[in-house]
Amino acid sequence: MRRNQIVLVLVWVMGICATTLLCATVDYDHRALLIDGKRRVLISGSIHYPRSTPEMWPDLIQKSKDGGLDVIETYVFWNQHEPVRGQYNFEGRNDLVRFVKAVAAAGLYVHLRIGPYVCAEWNYGGFPLWLHFIPGIKFRTDNEPFKAEMKRFTAKIVDMMKQEKLYASQGGPIILSQIENEYGNIDGPYGAAGKSYINWAASMATSLDTGVPWVMCQQADAPDPIINTCNGFYCDQFTPNSNKKPKMWTENWTGWFLLFGGATPRRPVEDIAFAVARFFQRGGTFQNYYMYHGGTNFDRTSGGPFIATSYDYDAPIDEYGIIRQPKWGHLKDLHKAIKLCEEALIATDPTISSPGPKLEVAVYKTGDKCAAFLANDNDNSDATVKFNGNSYQLPAWSVSILPDCKNVVLNTAKINSASMISSFTTESSKADTSLEASTSGWSWISEPVGISKADSFAKIGLVEQINTTADRSDYLWYSLSVDLQDDAGSQAVLHVESLGHALHAFINGKLAGSSQGNGNKRALDVDIPITLVAGKNTIDLLSLTVGLQNYGSFFDIWGAGITGPVILKGLKNGNTVDLSSQKWTYQVGLKGEDLGLSSGSSGQWNSQSTLPKNQPFIWYKTNFAAPSGSNPVAIDFTGMGKGEAWVNGQSIGRYWPTNAAPNGVCSDSCNYRGPYTSTKCQTNCGKPSQTLYHVPRSWLKPDGNILVLFEESGGDPTKISFGTKQVASLCAHISDSHLPPVEMWNSDTKSGKKVGPVLSLKCPHQDQVISSIKFASYGTPLGTCGDYYHGRCSSNKAMSIVQKACIGSSSCSVGVSTDTFGDPCKGVAKSLAVEAICT
Ligand code: GAL
Repeated sequence: MRRNQIVLVLVWVMGICATTLLCATVDYDHRALLIDGKRRVLISGSIHYPRSTPEMWPDLIQKSKDGGLDVIETYVFWNQHEPVRGQYNFEGRNDLVRFVKAVAAAGLYVHLRIGPYVCAEWNYGGFPLWLHFIPGIKFRTDNEPFKAEMKRFTAKIVDMMKQEKLYASQGGPIILSQIENEYGNIDGPYGAAGKSYINWAASMATSLDTGVPWVMCQQADAPDPIINTCNGFYCDQFTPNSNKKPKMWTENWTGWFLLFGGATPRRPVEDIAFAVARFFQRGGTFQNYYMYHGGTNFDRTSGGPFIATSYDYDAPIDEYGIIRQPKWGHLKDLHKAIKLCEEALIATDPTISSPGPKLEVAVYKTGDKCAAFLANDNDNSDATVKFNGNSYQLPAWSVSILPDCKNVVLNTAKINSASMISSFTTESSKADTSLEASTSGWSWISEPVGISKADSFAKIGLVEQINTTADRSDYLWYSLSVDLQDDAGSQAVLHVESLGHALHAFINGKLAGSSQGNGNKRALDVDIPITLVAGKNTIDLLSLTVGLQNYGSFFDIWGAGITGPVILKGLKNGNTVDLSSQKWTYQVGLKGEDLGLSSGSSGQWNSQSTLPKNQPFIWYKTNFAAPSGSNPVAIDFTGMGKGEAWVNGQSIGRYWPTNAAPNGVCSDSCNYRGPYTSTKCQTNCGKPSQTLYHVPRSWLKPDGNILVLFEESGGDPTKISFGTKQVASLCAHISDSHLPPVEMWNSDTKSGKKVGPVLSLKCPHQDQVISSIKFASYGTPLGTCGDYYHGRCSSNKAMSIVQKACIGSSSCSVGVSTDTFGDPCKGVAKSLAVEAICT
């Protein structure tokens, strides 16, 4: 190399990479993302930083890495970062840079989905409310004011990442970015303007020069060089819009979100693993779990309407940061199996054939590399597939992975991973102290019914709520006084129509009726029986939003609140009076909100007189000691109605334990075979959708914590309990037809020695050991974790063998074979089931 060439190279290195030489190029071709020129198989998972705390992030990221992830995906939440136009917040849970750096510190990559529209069951889809009030603005279309703001915020985030050198091109972890979100699902009504908007968004993003590729999800017409990606429960049938782009899956839904008033969705891991394996079988190389850790919708961040405070999502890591087993473990095994195939996967395209109805074989073969995926798509019949001269048994709805085109390392329907039951232990059941004892009692303030604030205002006619409150509060009072001389003591009906989401009606200061929408129907149309007095009657209607709409064409202008009509019907003389065009008085928010009662420090808290119970509109306050230990903390709000709660001034979200899941939409057992839908495997029917609410440990001091509640419909705060979440039991059930652990694959195939199935248990915390074996049976045990029982055949040695292998250790493994246990019933298929306790 001549001297001027060396100088040129140095300039190039310094110019692009500045001070670090660790910078990577990220590119793509039709097979995969290329990092430093090498195609990669990448497993990714979503963790949304504001849905947990910075103190939780390192542990969540480490658990993701241990689970086999290469990439952490997050949206960027515009309304968190710019609550007021031009005033930014990147502190605490909003510290995006800290989050990205935490991922980098663990050695993982980041996919930054800037949006800035994010959907995500997040309030208003992530848009700040002030955006709505910019003159002439129309969201998500070819509209200059909107585009200017979208560009400004996107550029702000990109600049911030660049300044911190967080793009891979600068030596940082960000290998990918997303612009917009699933616009292609709802773009029809936007017409031609929608099309030009997407083209604009693509070139705007590209012009920001991040040095890494951009994606658009669910956008079949994403212009080059943007990669269009797939979201869904299955994406194996997806193909990108150019044969120069790789097949990528940005949202593989690991469960589904919970609604207040909804049942709890569960997605079986056998089905997730099947979907993932099918995707890689058919040429996919990047797959992201949405969510890997769902977390919590603190504050008023949940979208909706009616999205619950818990965003657990049935994800591999639960809301509290505890790994969910066997989901986490089985997917970890799957990731290892897929990675064993990586060299073959990235070397070539698959050759796909079908040896029978709903059977599919894909082979990745070049030179000496060969990997194969065998799939049985039948949802009820097992099958035998002949491949390369061997026979393979394929359970229904499963994929077997063969990293050497010969030996099966994993079948998606056979779970080797242990399972776990986690439980909520209340302080009282632990230490025999009721909340009343662990708190120093309750004090309270009542919130006035109707207009009580100086900033109330009068207006002719009924107003739309979001335009009026700008979402500063969930609450808007509509108040009116009517003079009815002839109707003293008469029964009448108040008819109210509202765009949603809930309402309480008061007549002369007394609650006359309430109504609420649900996940399927936001609008309200109610007839409330009322009693009137002679002369002046006050009608106070409190309208509530429960998380602003986050999805759909033009969702930003769907509106909320009592837009009418409001009619008095059935008056004495049969008259009807339409009140819609009267002069109403309005109040945005509550008096207690203005007084800052949520911090607990201000206000005239009553503690002398008797505590009001089961009455609407009460602010409650108490002090409490944090539950001991380090397990995650939750409050059980059973006994309360609906409201919001704050711990040491931090909102832990809306609570609504009286809103229960309907009956008849759950299934006792869930058959993972066959296509999954979000309502297929629901649980918790007829019970409150959410009773437990997460209080992050880092928000607590050992003593003297302040809990404040605003109770809207009536409850008894003395019934509230505090507790911790922990793993109660560790279980595994392994049959003699299970495959050996994935880790054994290499030694197994290389040595030619046959390793059999193994039952492995590992305590969730490093400092724990297995202290007892609740159940152990080798033979034909039955039941499920927490509820195993002996079948007709069982070895009498099982308990002592398992005890000997496990007690006193933090993990243990036992071979599942007659070599270990002897044969209690010859000629019968046998299995080993164990339930263990860690302390
Ligand atoms: C997708 C969307 C995500 C999330 C998900 C459902 O359509 O892109 O943001 O809302 O649905 O959880």
